[in-house]
Amino acid sequence: MKSKKKPFTRRQFVKTTSVGAIAASQFIPGFALSSQGSTASGKLAALGGTPVRSNKSFPSWPYSDENITDSVLKTTKSGIWCRIQSKTGTVPTFEKKYAEMMGVNKCVAVGSGTQALHTAVEALGLGPGDEVITSPYTDPGTLSSILSARALPVLADVDRFSFQLDPDDVERRINQNTKALMPVHIMGQAANMERFLELAKKHNLFIIEDACQAHFAKYQGKLLGTIGDVGCFSHQSSKVLPCGEGGSIISHDENLMDRCFTVQNHGTSRLGSTETIGPKYRMNEFEAAVLLGQIPTVMERHAIRNKNANYLTSKIKDIPGIHPQKLYEGTGDGSYYLYAMNYDKKLYNGVHRSKFLKALAAEGISLSPYIKKGLHKELWVENILNRRVYQKMYTPQRLQQFRDEMVCPNVDTLCEEEMVMIWASGPLLGTQDDMDDIINALTKVYENRDQLNKV
Ligand SMILES: Cc1ncc(COP(=O)(O)O)c(C=O)c1O
Repeated sequence: MKSKKKPFTRRQFVKTTSVGAIAASQFIPGFALSSQGSTASGKLAALGGTPVRSNKSFPSWPYSDENITDSVLKTTKSGIWCRIQSKTGTVPTFEKKYAEMMGVNKCVAVGSGTQALHTAVEALGLGPGDEVITSPYTDPGTLSSILSARALPVLADVDRFSFQLDPDDVERRINQNTKALMPVHIMGQAANMERFLELAKKHNLFIIEDACQAHFAKYQGKLLGTIGDVGCFSHQSSKVLPCGEGGSIISHDENLMDRCFTVQNHGTSRLGSTETIGPKYRMNEFEAAVLLGQIPTVMERHAIRNKNANYLTSKIKDIPGIHPQKLYEGTGDGSYYLYAMNYDKKLYNGVHRSKFLKALAAEGISLSPYIKKGLHKELWVENILNRRVYQKMYTPQRLQQFRDEMVCPNVDTLCEEEMVMIWASGPLLGTQDDMDDIINALTKVYENRDQLNKV
């Protein structure tokens, strides 16, 4: 039986960075990490054993090189610091280049992913009285974009193994006021877009793709963000194409893109007429300078992350009780902003994830449980129920039902006990030896799981 402790046979260990050539030559199936003085049959580092990895760091993030610093310096010296000063400044140039990379005609750059999503919501004409269904397993920015338009964010549960919005639960929550679906490509992998496209067609809904984590990721041969009506990206520092704070919007629908431009430009169109309600969300030229400095090499980093992620997955899938994120059929490249796994405590003698993470950290590999709780459990729910605009626009019955149906058990399970992930933008740019350290630490903790209770 899998959960029963196996004698330590050491078949899954792979060579590690610090051991060097001699140790590498010692890497023969059946051998442990002897040259590190850290045998898997020995003690967990958390209990005084030798860590799998020590005094080594993963590549840091955000990435920086001379191209980026030159680009910022050039912008500084040019005196063109705001997009309206020049049609050929860094913001319009970034928009053009990003649109080309994404295979669309237009892109609108804004100040954050949250702003991108809010702009898209407004440009689609969604507002008070309308409902948008999305995931509670995401950044608050997803939610904020709907709330800022004073529409109602209806949260559906996620699939426990893909961590993506569950189309069946979404369908149960569709009513006559539902106007849009906002699938989140969480962890930079594709949501179940085939199902969402079907639902959108059947119920006549817009699809706003929250691709804030999913730059250059693919599904059925298409880039995420180009599949629904509109796609939104974040360029916040931790993302794979960062500039501190930034966001972008893309769509095949050029009229919609023009409306997005107008919304984010305080309601003023490209032609200069002030037409509608809109915040001022324009990206500034320094942010775009940072982005432009990365464009020539960003796909190289994307390829390294995918190579490393595929390697990790090929090994981790054989470690009991740790399941790499389930991917839907048709998933191509991932963005690998995050590399996520599901921890099954049953195979670790029932030990809670916190001890598992502590043991791994002591081995030199820090994984994160990601968000502490789903957005369905945050204070905004009660808060909006007390807001006049919501009380005016939605019936008391609807608001009561909205509160009663804020139930997402899979999100709770992920938050409380199952999610373990790597912040991957930098770390997944590491060497294969770095990846081996991750695999070896996971393997060591599994093989020594009988010690976890003492951690
Ligand atoms: C899935 C998701 N949506 C929206 C956002 C909001 O983006 P930003 O932080 O750029 O506003 C983020 C940022 O982390 C995100 O991960």
